[in-house]
Amino acid sequence: MIEAIALTKSYGGTRAVDDVTLSADRGVIGLLGPNGAGKTSLLRMAATVLAPDEGSLRLLGLDPGRADERVQIRRRLGYLPQSPGLYPGFTPYDMVDYVAVLKEHTDRERRRHEVRRVLEAVTLQDVMHRKIRALSGGMKQRVALACALVGQPDLLVLDEPANGLDPDQRLGLRSLLSAAPTVLMATHNISEVSALCQQVYVMFTGRVRFAGTPAELAGLAHGRVWEDDRQDPDAVRSWLTPTGSYRHLGDPPSGAAVVDPTLDDGYLLLARMEHAP
Ligand SMILES: Nc1ncnc2c1ncn2[C@@H]1O[C@H](COP(=O)(O)OP(=O)(O)O)[C@@H](O)[C@H]1O
Ligand SMILES: [Mg+2]
Repeated sequence: MIEAIALTKSYGGTRAVDDVTLSADRGVIGLLGPNGAGKTSLLRMAATVLAPDEGSLRLLGLDPGRADERVQIRRRLGYLPQSPGLYPGFTPYDMVDYVAVLKEHTDRERRRHEVRRVLEAVTLQDVMHRKIRALSGGMKQRVALACALVGQPDLLVLDEPANGLDPDQRLGLRSLLSAAPTVLMATHNISEVSALCQQVYVMFTGRVRFAGTPAELAGLAHGRVWEDDRQDPDAVRSWLTPTGSYRHLGDPPSGAAVVDPTLDDGYLLLARMEHAP
């Protein structure tokens, strides 16, 4: 579904995406990393919005570098950008209908059905005739999500889809993701990754530093997490937990109360190794 080999993309002197190799078949693939890691740039290439400088990219078995194949990819692709360009004077219905027209849904009756289907999928049917400018942030995000779902795409590329959604809506998002065969999703939400993703990639400064399952990411911190009432100055990282004890990452001292790692522990340890001198 997605096959990227040694992708590179620079903006002036900044290598936003640096030698990234990624392959994804079916399922939900999560992309984690701090701000500026290159997630959006990578997703824009996967959405055929941006062409790589170097490397090879195939989407749905097709080459986005060729105009004719790019059109075929776009017909089967849904993309939620990080900052979706919605028209504030449109209603959600108009906005999704507009996207459906662009996606060549020419039959009016079928298009009407499809527009309603995706608006209902994101539970916006009650506000679909209000102006977008009058909607809340979470509603706007769901309008953009509805636009990405038009036509039941084979490949969904979602840039921080849970942005602005409340916990209830996040849960709704989960069921939507199972609707597409392949979903590539950037997120800051680690619990979302453990709940949704079969595969996770972690990026730092343009490079992929981890690829594997969420369990494998957590496993990076196996034997390297311990808790104590007092803070250990030798830990590479430590923080106070709600129970009042300190959680530590690093090399546990002898006799330490080693605990099972979570995905957060694995991610934080990876981030720490990245920034270590
Ligand atoms: N259009 C652009 N022009 C110049 N630099 C950019 C542009 N887009 C992104 N960058 C830079 O590329 C790097 C990666 O950004 P981005 O892909 O947005 O990462 P992320 O989505 O992980 O925050 C950052 O250093 C960012 O400042
Ligand atoms: Mg981004």
